[in-house]
Amino acid sequence: MRVFENLGNNRVIPVIVVENPEHAVPMAEALVAGGVTALEVTLRTPVGLEVIERIAKAVPEAIVGAGTVTDAAQFQQVVDAGGRFAVSPGITDSLAIAANASGLPWLPGTVTASEILLAMQLGFEDLKFFPASVSGGPPAIKAFTSVFSNIRFCPTGGVKPENMVDYLSIPNVQAVGGSWLVTKELLDKQDWAHMTRLAQEAVSRAREILGE
Ligand code: 3PG
Repeated sequence: MRVFENLGNNRVIPVIVVENPEHAVPMAEALVAGGVTALEVTLRTPVGLEVIERIAKAVPEAIVGAGTVTDAAQFQQVVDAGGRFAVSPGITDSLAIAANASGLPWLPGTVTASEILLAMQLGFEDLKFFPASVSGGPPAIKAFTSVFSNIRFCPTGGVKPENMVDYLSIPNVQAVGGSWLVTKELLDKQDWAHMTRLAQEAVSRAREILGE
């Protein structure tokens, strides 16, 4: 299964934790205004699915999906909420079966050669690399790309504007993800303009790195 084609041309994917569902639509609009349209709303809070549903209904330019999918039953819930992709921190047989059954593009998490092999055996070649910074960071991904040239990665966990270049300049890194675009502080302050600025900065930095 190939996933990145379903995420538009996004090179930066915000990993989002929302506690107040009222924040869903203005936040998504702020990110879209900044040029970031693939939004990973984590299911770490009880309102995660509701946030996905609100964005899917009200912000058609957004490609909203679910992050932190850790239970097979959640795939169908994400589909029902209008989510268009799913991301998990790891990979298991039962999650892979549920992902395939739901038809949702899925980025399973991997960090070792054996996990990458398992993903390939299950038919997944677009993978999250998590937690990136404490799992060897860019040198680890570079080492894997020489062995697994068919695999494309989205590293997350410790990715920031300052180190984006180290990740995005690796050819098999298709996108990076992180929580810096939508912080709890910005959500609490409802500082949508600042979110748009962070999104714009991330997009232009990614374009600069990739020469796009
Ligand atoms: C994730 O789920 O990918 C991480 O929580 C994002 O990590 P970060 O907070 O270090 O960006």
